[in-house]
Amino acid sequence: MSRIVYVNGSFLPEEEAKVSVFDRGFLFADGVYEVTTVLGGKLIDFDGHAARLERSLGELEMESPVSRAELLDIHRELVARNDLAEGLIYLQVTRGAADRDFAFPEGAMPTVVLFTQAVPVIDRPSALNGIKVISIPDLRWGRRDIKTVQLLYPSMGKMAAKKAGADDAWMVEDGFVTEGTSNNAWIVKDGKLITRHLGTEILHGITRAAVLRLAEEAQMTVEERPFTLAEARAADEAFVTSASAFVTPVVEIDGQPLGEGRPGPLARRLREIYIDDSRAKAI
Ligand code: PDD
Repeated sequence: MSRIVYVNGSFLPEEEAKVSVFDRGFLFADGVYEVTTVLGGKLIDFDGHAARLERSLGELEMESPVSRAELLDIHRELVARNDLAEGLIYLQVTRGAADRDFAFPEGAMPTVVLFTQAVPVIDRPSALNGIKVISIPDLRWGRRDIKTVQLLYPSMGKMAAKKAGADDAWMVEDGFVTEGTSNNAWIVKDGKLITRHLGTEILHGITRAAVLRLAEEAQMTVEERPFTLAEARAADEAFVTSASAFVTPVVEIDGQPLGEGRPGPLARRLREIYIDDSRAKAI
């Protein structure tokens, strides 16, 4: 069954949805994106994703092509037209089509594309069994706080993990873990949650922010600071957070089981709390 996709103001069958070969997203990776989760036909943390999109666009001197209210309407219309109960909405905004030139073109019309992915987000084997990660050097550019579509290195990291029989890669810079290829990294030591502080080195995860808030509400101790790979290997538990993974336990790092080699109690509890809270607040 063909999906209905949104392209620049129109809802079209995916076969008819097209963008220009001159689009700067295609030629320069000159674009930003968001992934919002749909649960029970409703959007999780829409405002957080919309705010980060506005920030990403601002950092790249792009105007927001649609207002936040219009964006919400488009998301909801796409959920309705695709009858999506559970899955993801991918949104991409590029600077638009212009003759190839490194300088930003003046007056280009941004390209706006949204599509749905009907995938299970609650019942995933990774949530039950945990994931295995390998470590790789973080070779991405220096503005990882902007959610750009330059995803080749994360994609290579995921492939390196697959080839090593693992599920994902944690990236390391100057001895410290930055984040996963498409998620934020957390460890647990002596009951304390540790996740890297915000900065230009990592994406400011919307799920990370929600989990920080929920952990504090549940009286858990949290430290926002860099942690080394050695600390991660010696941790009691580890997990990742993202819009699609929610809270997913990590059970192995570089072939070494973590703690007891099973999803840890704090990761499991945070996943439950996060899902309950998201269901309650979804719009
Ligand atoms: N990835 N760090 C990176 C590098 C990411 O790509 C993502 C999200 C996150 C988590 O952010 P959030 O909690 O806002 O989803 C952290 C999305 C899900 C993706 O690329 O599919």
